[in-house]
Amino acid sequence: MKKQTPIIEIRDLTAKYGETTVLDNISVDIYPQEITVILGVSGCGKTTMLKNMLRLYEPAGGSVRFWDQDILSLDDAAYNEVLKRTGMLFQNGALLNSISVYENISIPLEMHTNLSTEIIDRMIRVKLALVGLSEAIYKYPAELSGGMKKRAALARALALDPHILFCDEPSAGLDPVTSAALDELILDLKKQLQMTIVIVTHELGSIHRIADRIIFLDEGKILFTGNLADAMQAGIPQIDRFFKVGMF
Ligand SMILES: Nc1ncnc2c1ncn2[C@@H]1O[C@H](COP(=O)(O)OP(=O)(O)O)[C@@H](O)[C@H]1O
Ligand SMILES: [Mg+2]
Repeated sequence: MKKQTPIIEIRDLTAKYGETTVLDNISVDIYPQEITVILGVSGCGKTTMLKNMLRLYEPAGGSVRFWDQDILSLDDAAYNEVLKRTGMLFQNGALLNSISVYENISIPLEMHTNLSTEIIDRMIRVKLALVGLSEAIYKYPAELSGGMKKRAALARALALDPHILFCDEPSAGLDPVTSAALDELILDLKKQLQMTIVIVTHELGSIHRIADRIIFLDEGKILFTGNLADAMQAGIPQIDRFFKVGMF
């Protein structure tokens, strides 16, 4: 693994809900143009980590630097600039059901840019082509399969050409073939668009296919960070159990 400058630096991050500490002083780096997979049993704090590192939920302590700016101390305008360079495909980040795929993808473009209708139209078509969903452009979410909905949500997350893409369990509820196709798409985004991707998944197949680096969370701490081969040879019981039984 080559040594590079991190794109995100998390230091002593503590996340709480009320008095309950979910993440306890975690420190980790995310590297550019890599796929980093956050792993750990259900309820260990993976979604909480994504939300706190993006300041969608205010951390109880620590710092998070994106492109060497501490996003916890930025003013709203500067923080929004950082957010615009990130795309999010959240677990329940559903599409709006009352509008078409086309309109769903137009929302971030209309909210965050001053581009003309013609340019926005072209960008929507490019993004849908990228995720292989051109034929569904005028469909409504209810008319799409689970895999198509995920791809439409991905097209929306990609609308503003993010440098960093966050995905929370993108293949949850998908059949293995559709899930593998989504992995291929994620690998393409990394290779063709040099995107940095941070993804939560516990699909063992996905982890093997896409992970450049893993972060393994357990009881509020990071048990391991590094590549998959090293994780599997680290002799850490929780990690061994995870890979042996695919424990969720
Ligand atoms: N909004 C919330 N309020 C209170 N507790 C929460 C909230 N969201 C998550 N939790 C709790 O925090 C812990 C971590 O949750 P989460 O980050 O969603 O785990 P994961 O994504 O790894 O399954 C769980 O115990 C969960 O019940
Ligand atoms: Mg979660």
